[in-house]
Amino acid sequence: MVSPSTVILGTGAYVPTRVLTNDELSTRLDTTDEWIRTRTGIVERHIASPEEATSDLALNAARVALADAKLSPADIDLLIVATITPDQQIPATACIVQHKLGLATTTTCLDINAACSGFIYAMELASAMISTGRYRHALIIGAEKLSSIVDWQDRTTCVLFGDGAGAAVLGRADGKGTGILGTKLGAFGENADLLQIPRGGSRAPLTEETIGAREHFLKMKGKEIFKIAVRAMDEAARDILEQHGVTADQVACVIPHQANLRIIEAIAQYLELPSERFYVNLDRYGNTSAASIPIALDEARRLGRIKPGDITLLVAFGAGLTYGSALIRW
Ligand code: ACO
Repeated sequence: MVSPSTVILGTGAYVPTRVLTNDELSTRLDTTDEWIRTRTGIVERHIASPEEATSDLALNAARVALADAKLSPADIDLLIVATITPDQQIPATACIVQHKLGLATTTTCLDINAACSGFIYAMELASAMISTGRYRHALIIGAEKLSSIVDWQDRTTCVLFGDGAGAAVLGRADGKGTGILGTKLGAFGENADLLQIPRGGSRAPLTEETIGAREHFLKMKGKEIFKIAVRAMDEAARDILEQHGVTADQVACVIPHQANLRIIEAIAQYLELPSERFYVNLDRYGNTSAASIPIALDEARRLGRIKPGDITLLVAFGAGLTYGSALIRW
C-alpha cells in the first residue's frame, strides 16, 4: 500500500430544519409512502427555506468541518465546492462561500459539477493540489439545494431528492500511513442525456415557451440510470480495491452515494459484503447529490462507525454520467 500524501483533518455536515415526509408528499402528488419506501428506501428529506441558498448550506457544513479540524478560516488556501445547484450561474458558489466564511483573498476558489460524484472529484483535485506542495489546507464541500431544480409536479423525480451540505478539511499527511490512499474517477458522457436539465444553458437558453413546458427542471430516466449505476459503482469499487491491494472484507465501512437502497444492496451483494458494512442515511435525507457522501461520512465518523486504523471505501455515481471511488485509511 502506498503512503498517502493527503489526510482528512475534519468533517462537517448541515441539513436544513424543514422535514418533508413521504406522507406529506402523497397529499400533493399521486404517490404513496409505500411506493417511495419500497422502491427507494427514502422516508423523508430536508428542504431548504426560500431564504437559504446552496452557499448557506455549504457555509454551515464548512464551519463544523473547520471546528472538527481545529483550524481557522485563515488556514485554508484552497476551496472547492461541488454542486449542481450553484447560487447563481455566475459567480462560482465557492467565491460566495469564501466571502461568507472570511477566507483570505489569496484562496484558490472553484466550483465543480460532477453531480453525485462531485465530492470524490473534489477530493481527488484537492489531494493532487496539496501533493504539489503549493497548498496546505483544502476545504472541500458538497452542497445542494436540489429542491430548487426538481419539478414538484413530476412524481418520478421530486420524491427522490433533498437538500443539504457536507464538508471536509484536507491537509498534508504526516507519513504515518493514514489518509487518502487513492481515488478512481471517470464518466460515461455518451449517456449524459439520461439525467439533465434540458434548457437554460448556452445550447438552449430559456424562453417563455420552454419555461411553460417545464424544461428548466431536472429530467431523469431512472430505470436506465439504475442499471448503469450498479455496474459503474461495482467496477469503481473493485478497481480502487485492486489498485491498492485491499480486499473487500478489509473495508470496515463503505460510504455509498445515497440514491436508492436497492442500488446499495445490489453493490453489497456484488462485493459479497454484509449490508451492515454500508452506511445508509437515505431514509432521512433522500438523494442530496454532491452532499450525499460527505454528509454520510461525517455522520459515520461521529457515530463511531469509522475508527482509527479502519479502511473506508467511498463510491458514487451521478449525472454526467460520472462515477468515482476513494479509499481512506484513518
Ligand atoms: N409514486 C408512485 N408511482 C410512481 C412514482 C411515484 N413517486 N414514480 C414513478 N411511479 C410509477 C411509474 O409511473 C411506473 O408506472 P407504470 O408501470 O404504470 O408505468 C411505475 O411506478 C414504475 O416506475 P419505474 O420508473 O419503472 O420504477 P423503478 O422501480 O425503476 O424506480 C427509480 C424508479 C426510483 C427512479 C429508480 O429507477 C432509481 O432509483 N434510479 C436511479 C436513480 C439514480 O441513481 N440517479 C443518479 C443519481 S441522481 C444525480 O446525479 C443528481
